[in-house]
Amino acid sequence: MTTATPLTDTIPPHVPAALVVDFDIYNVAVEDGDYHAALKRLHDPGVPDIFWTPRNGGHWVATRGEDIYHIFKDSEHFSSRQLVVPRHRNPAVPLPPIMLDPPEQAKYRSLFAPALSPKAVAPLGVGARALAIELIEGFYAKGECEFVGEFAQHLPIGIFMKMVDVPTSDRDQLLHWADQQVRPTSEHEREQSFHSLFAYAAQKVAERQAHPGDDLISQLTRAQVDGAPITAEALAPMIFLLLVGGLDTVASAMGFAARFLATSPAHRRELIDHPERIPGAVEELLRRFPVVNQGRLVVSDMDYKGVALRAGDQIILPTSLHGLDERKFEDPLRVDFSRPTPIHSTFGNGAHRCPGSLLARTELKIFLEEWLKRIPDFRIKPGTTPEVRAGVNATIFSLQLVWEVR
Ligand code: HEM
Repeated sequence: MTTATPLTDTIPPHVPAALVVDFDIYNVAVEDGDYHAALKRLHDPGVPDIFWTPRNGGHWVATRGEDIYHIFKDSEHFSSRQLVVPRHRNPAVPLPPIMLDPPEQAKYRSLFAPALSPKAVAPLGVGARALAIELIEGFYAKGECEFVGEFAQHLPIGIFMKMVDVPTSDRDQLLHWADQQVRPTSEHEREQSFHSLFAYAAQKVAERQAHPGDDLISQLTRAQVDGAPITAEALAPMIFLLLVGGLDTVASAMGFAARFLATSPAHRRELIDHPERIPGAVEELLRRFPVVNQGRLVVSDMDYKGVALRAGDQIILPTSLHGLDERKFEDPLRVDFSRPTPIHSTFGNGAHRCPGSLLARTELKIFLEEWLKRIPDFRIKPGTTPEVRAGVNATIFSLQLVWEVR
């Protein structure tokens, strides 16, 4: 691996050598497609609960559920102004609400609330279910599919496109840009896709300002912040966030869930025989297979559990490591659909806790219900290996599944 700066340059004087671990959050060595088990090695004896890595410009990593949970909730000391490493990768203009801190953040977050409320999600779920059935029935007779591209990505993008009322012909282009955002192969690609998505969102905002409708973008153009209409500059990043935030996360969570079920006939059988256990299964799969690696910026010099944090330090919170922490969950790598509803950090916690969590859970539930009814037995296609990529969001990039056609 090569890095732009020598690694030793990224260890500041306040970081003791005992707290340095060479670890790249965006380049985790994954064996057998189990990204989460690979990440869990950060719970091995000898790895400090909070350590400094010289990779990606140098930053802290919190590895334990208690700290991940606490830091998400403490926006006074841990700011959202820098969410990814290295710090130059953060957009110069903060995306509202996710890159703002309270109380400013709340003004923008509240604008999303009606679109993601139980009342709004119910009809979106109806559309998502119809789409799920259509997709499964479309490829069932082939006896195989590439799950992520042919199924998992379609539900969230279909919902987003319905919410903001954009033509289905834009779908593949949007998917492509969104993927380049979360898993760029180069800095140039990331910047290009960022500008393309932004330009797309800005164009839609301008269109709806000129010809308002009933969709979410039109509603947002009528919204007010601090008594004044929201500016087009603030609106475009919000649309961008809604697409990127809701697309890749759901598709990835679904991909990891499908990979697991493809390898565990007993868990499949349990849900087929007891469909009433599906909501609990969604929770357990979210605990076991989180996807987001989110960051925070230390606001001022502080001592956190004996670790000297300095203003301007970045700290990454791998949400997976909360759900996989044996200090919080017995035998955490085991999937147990009857676990009591867990407290995890899969959707973050505190002021920024994911407002799309109900929609995400609904999509996962629909997937399990409709898929298992039609394809109760499926497995990973022999000779293929699920392609897993680490990133701001970890994902299964490709997952070939096969089944017997009856
Ligand atoms: C399994 C799927 C999902 C996961 C794992 C997930 C995860 C997260 C996490 C961890 C955060 C907190 C970020 C932070 O504290 O910095 C967040 C925030 C957010 N998510 Fe999700 N998300 C998912 C689905 C969705 C969906 C479906 C939508 C909407 C369509 C959505 C929209 C948002 C937005 C707008 C925020 C920012 C909220 C704020 O800053 O107040 N997410 N999500």
